[in-house]
Amino acid sequence: MGKILVTGGAGYIGSHVVKALGEKGYDILVYDNLSTGHEWAVLHGDLVVGDIRDRGRLDQVLDKYEVDAVMHFAAHIVVPESVQEPLKYYMNNVGGSLTLLQALQEHGVDKFIFSSSAAVYGIPEEIPVRESAPLQAINPYGETKAMVEKVLEDMAYAGSMNYVALRYFNVAGADPEGRIGEGKEDATHLITMCVRTAAGLRPEMSIFGDDYPTSDGTCVRDYIHVEDLAEAHILALQYLLQNGESQVFNCGYGRGFSVLEVVEAARKATGVDFPVRMAPRREGDPPALVADSSKLQSHLGWRPQHDDLQHIIATAWNWETRGRTRE
Ligand SMILES: NC(=O)c1ccc[n+]([C@@H]2O[C@H](COP(=O)([O-])OP(=O)(O)OC[C@H]3O[C@@H](n4cnc5c(N)ncnc54)[C@H](O)[C@@H]3O)[C@@H](O)[C@H]2O)c1
Repeated sequence: MGKILVTGGAGYIGSHVVKALGEKGYDILVYDNLSTGHEWAVLHGDLVVGDIRDRGRLDQVLDKYEVDAVMHFAAHIVVPESVQEPLKYYMNNVGGSLTLLQALQEHGVDKFIFSSSAAVYGIPEEIPVRESAPLQAINPYGETKAMVEKVLEDMAYAGSMNYVALRYFNVAGADPEGRIGEGKEDATHLITMCVRTAAGLRPEMSIFGDDYPTSDGTCVRDYIHVEDLAEAHILALQYLLQNGESQVFNCGYGRGFSVLEVVEAARKATGVDFPVRMAPRREGDPPALVADSSKLQSHLGWRPQHDDLQHIIATAWNWETRGRTRE
């Protein structure tokens, strides 16, 4: 058995997947430029510092190691930044993915798991959203994910790649043992903001918009624990290694919480009545995003173990207050 190449494996989600792979005994090679990732987050396997846009470096790695499959997490991920600096996002998320795919094709690697996003749906017409819904991204970040999915679809049709695209909804939480978690100082995700504000790392946090067409006017999202998402990757890998055909799956719990509901749950989980401030809407935020993940459950046998908002927040709180301070 060869290696599993994990691009972006030193980042938040990638490092949790590397942990899950390592616990299952896979031979892992992390490829990461450490732009937002951290060496300390790689708990298993070897880390090669390299960039997905660097074809020479990719060739060195693929010449040296036998790679059975690739998990591709490396990307820029901040939606508002993608609106301000679209080219940065197209160059890394699309250009980098194309460079990687070309190198893989030329080295005969034909199994690929792609970190896609609910952002590909834009403002979905039906909630919960199914994989068959039209792709209508409303920001450059979502466009980059949809473009790479299209490339993969065409490569699969041509017989040069078998892939699973996992469309993540809102990923949150941390390793329950507190060894790894969100490591980006400037992370913008809601649950991270809540626990960092509760921990006193920020004076207050903002709620962007309270006039959306939702029950309390704030945006509704489907929060999935990063460990359940990691398990979806393991199942997708096993599926591809058994020669499963290319598929796209939503990854979420099928239940939405508003920003205000998350803030209340975070105040309860942390025991801190931290301050929040109402702010104008952000560009590129759809009102509600909730997954229909029945396909992931029926096709891959995915059974979530951490579907509990309080628990998700508690693991993030544990990481921020105990784990992260050790780094
Ligand atoms: N966090 C979420 O809620 C969420 C939701 C949907 C999709 N995703 C996708 O999941 C993936 C991982 O997200 P994350 O939250 O872990 O982000 P992250 O920033 O923590 O991880 C990304 C990793 O990729 C690395 N990287 C970036 N550009 C690179 C390049 N050119 N070459 C090599 N390495 C590079 C970074 O150093 C980092 O370690 C991304 O593709 C993202 O689009 C995340």
